Order: sequence, then C-alpha cells, then structure tokens
Amino acid sequence: MKEKLAKIREQALTQIKSCDTTEKLNEVRVSILGKKGELTSVLKSMKDVPAEERPQVGQWVNETRQEIEKVLEEARTAMEAAIREVRMKEEVIDVTLPAKKAEIGHRHPNTIALEEVERIFIGMGYEVVEGPEVETDYYNFEALNIPADHPAKDEQDTFYVNGDILLRTQTSGVQVHEMEKGKLPIRMIAPGRVFRADEVDATHSPSFHQIEGLVIDKHVTFADLKGTLAEFAKELFGEDTKVKFRPHHFPFTEPSAEMDVSCFKCGGKGCRFCKGSGWIEILGCGMVHPHVLEMSNIDPKEYTGFAFGVGLERIALLKYEIDDMRLLYENDARFLKQF
Ligand code: DAH
Repeated sequence: MKEKLAKIREQALTQIKSCDTTEKLNEVRVSILGKKGELTSVLKSMKDVPAEERPQVGQWVNETRQEIEKVLEEARTAMEAAIREVRMKEEVIDVTLPAKKAEIGHRHPNTIALEEVERIFIGMGYEVVEGPEVETDYYNFEALNIPADHPAKDEQDTFYVNGDILLRTQTSGVQVHEMEKGKLPIRMIAPGRVFRADEVDATHSPSFHQIEGLVIDKHVTFADLKGTLAEFAKELFGEDTKVKFRPHHFPFTEPSAEMDVSCFKCGGKGCRFCKGSGWIEILGCGMVHPHVLEMSNIDPKEYTGFAFGVGLERIALLKYEIDDMRLLYENDARFLKQF
C-alpha cells in the first residue's frame, strides 16, 4: 500500500510540473483527488485493509493527499503570479508620452459674422428677437403688403407646407410679430434662417440666413435710417467705409432703397472684388409702409419707422473673402479652422 501511495504521489507531482494553465492543474486535481480520483479510490478500498493496519494506512493516505494539495496550491499561486506579471507588462502606461491634442470645435463664419452684427446693434440700443421659421401666409406676405398675385408668392420660390402654411422666405415677418405686441417704441434686429426653392450654386442655397431690422418711434425719418446704417457699415467694414443709397422697391417700405458700401478691398477705386464698380451691395431698406403699420394697429400719423434686411451669408462671404457659399454649409473642418 505504501508503494502504491508513493507512486500516486510521484505521478501527481510530475503531472503538476507539466501543467502550463490553471485549467490543466484543475484537471490533475480532479483526476487524483476528485470523487473518482486515484487517491479517492485508495480510500474506498480501505475496507479491504486489515483493521489493525487501517490507522497507519489512513495516515499515509492523508499525508499524501495533503502534500499533493499543497503542491497543487503552490503551482496555482505561482502560475497566477506569472499571468499577473505578463498582464502588468502589457498594460503598462507611459505617463511621459505627449498627450494627444484634443480637437476643439470652431465657430462658424456665419456665427462670427452674426455676433459682430449683433454687437454693433446692441451697442446702438437694439434688442435681438426671434420669430418662427414656419409661418402663415399672413406674416410672410400679406401683413407685409405683398398682394396675393405677387411673384414672390409663386410656388417656385416658396416652400409651402399647405395652402396657408409655409417656410418663411424672409425674416421680415418678425417685424409684424413685434409690431403686434403693441409695445412701442421698437428697436430690434431679428436674425434667422429663411428658405427659398433655389438651386444650390456659389451664391444660392435653399436655406440661408437674414438679419431683419426694425425701428418704430415718433419722428423717425429717412435721415435716421441713413445715419444708423452708415454707422453700421463703418463698424462692420472699417471707419473709412462710405455708403450709397439707390432707390429700389420693396412692397413693405416706402420709399425703399438698397445700400451699397464702398469696396473695402480697393477703397472704391474698383477691383475684381467689387467687379470694378468700387461699390458692394449690402442690404435692402426703407421707411415702413403706412399700410404695414396700420395692419399691425400702429397709427402711421403718430408713428413712423424704418426697416432693413441683410443677408448673413453675404456679410460672412464678403468679410472673410470666401468666394463660394457652398463652403459655408459643407462644415469641412479644414475650411472652418481658418476663421
Ligand atoms: N425681405 C427682403 C428680402 O428678403 C429684404 C428686406 C428689404 C428687408 C428691405 C427689409 C427691408 O426689412 O426694409 O429680400
């Protein structure tokens, strides 16, 4: 019996030595110490051992078992330590490596231009307000004196949701919303997105931005309009900027004008930028039509006002010398980073 146990012990130790994973160690444990294991079967055969020898044999079996268990445990501990060491080496973090530069977002040229325009008008005491992008025919057209048969209402230009509801084609409707509030005087600008059924090209997009301006008070004259917009142009394009007003027509203003600024590239001599004319068209404006005031319950005998509308993209393109509007919508980081 003693030899048998010695053999089992011998075998076990050799098997344990050859194990290279904890799973294999476990298999060895089961094959020797498990329910059907070799050592267990020796225990089961104890009944055949003469009674007087049993204590002695029992002790041997126990000793063998303890030793094998001890060696198994040592092997397992050593193996786990080795695994841990390998993992530590693999997972090592080099804290001296230079950090990856995080990409920081950048303000869009439109945003920069808008903030500049807002800064100028807020400085002159204007309020910045917003209106809805989805409008009724009344706010976008009718209340602005644009009659039912006006070409701007053509389905080719306007995105209609249904017969009465549309995507606003201009921010001018915000004028009406502000006047209807009944709080006078008004001194506001209203920036926002507008929509027109235009094909995309270097100067057109089905969605772009305008900044509407409206001033209503007692004794507001065309001189106020000129002074205000001349000051705006100087702040935006530089102290030496001159302005020129050309007669124009807008249904909601009378008289109406378009304002040009002297070319800030060539100073008005004429260059490629201003197409040789020395002037660059910048906005539409005029004195609010008395009928428009009346429709919004403002008495034109008591109050007068002026309005203007600026294309935000146009300002951004001019100010940052971008020659294709599409660049503003592609959101290519390489382009946006330059501003
Ligand atoms: N709403 C006009 C347009 O989209 C721009 C405009 C012109 C606005 C004259 C005004 C204005 O307030 O007085 O073309």
